Amino acid sequence: MLSETIHCDVAGNKVLLSAVPHLFRPTLTTTLLTEHLQRADIENRTVLDLGCGIGPIAIGLAMAGAAHVYATDIMPQACEVAAANARLNHVADRISVLSGNLFEPVRGLTFDLIVDDVSGVAEDVARLSSWFPPGVPSGGEDGTRHTVEIVRQAREYLKPQGCLLFPVLSLSRRSRILEVAREVYGDRLTLVTSKRIPFNPKLKDNIRRLEELRSAGLIEFEQIRSRPFWTLEIYRADAI
Ligand SMILES: C[S@@+](CC[C@H](N)C(=O)[O-])C[C@H]1O[C@@H](n2cnc3c(N)ncnc32)[C@H](O)[C@@H]1O
Repeated sequence: MLSETIHCDVAGNKVLLSAVPHLFRPTLTTTLLTEHLQRADIENRTVLDLGCGIGPIAIGLAMAGAAHVYATDIMPQACEVAAANARLNHVADRISVLSGNLFEPVRGLTFDLIVDDVSGVAEDVARLSSWFPPGVPSGGEDGTRHTVEIVRQAREYLKPQGCLLFPVLSLSRRSRILEVAREVYGDRLTLVTSKRIPFNPKLKDNIRRLEELRSAGLIEFEQIRSRPFWTLEIYRADAI
């Protein structure tokens, strides 16, 4: 397997990663999800990295002092690479990498912190943007399939003072995710950070198709002085 070594910033740590072409590579979402976390949110905590890919979040949080990190992904190949990357960064003794669908590999466990980074963009965007290699599952037609399920199930997996962090991309049906999150967590749901991001060249090349998806209500984006932007938000939901 042809691999390449890349770096990624997670929770103030530089994570070294062996990346392979057919698996998802860290993006701005990876970094933004954990950027605001304080030491006290991580140190000695039990963490779940849901949709770990090649492992950047799990490894960065283990480097930041988590007691133990469970890292899960539906793709067994991603799990193999994540485990190898944990060894590369000398934190393999504090990371368990498990393959399976959403929470299924950690049934019965509870966590201080759950970081969800399972695919959350609409299928067409996943394929047009170049972010998702062909075999990596997307978030379904409107991008909400996994995030809605995770938001609903996470409360069973949180310790009493625990919290869930999850991204909401406007390149999905954002309103649907927020409707469910407000229904489940009420005022325990807070917006942590929000970033407006210009379209990359691949998105720009496919602007007509993206306009159709917007007209169908599957995604949202805005145009400022004819430049298209999408929005990335990070939400925190505190245990009920
Ligand atoms: C957006 S990538 C994020 C990967 C990694 N966290 C990162 O920052 O590079 C989403 C990951 O979710 C995984 N995934 C997709 N559907 C899943 C599911 N039903 N259960 C668990 N993981 C899933 C994909 O295989 C992919 O590795």
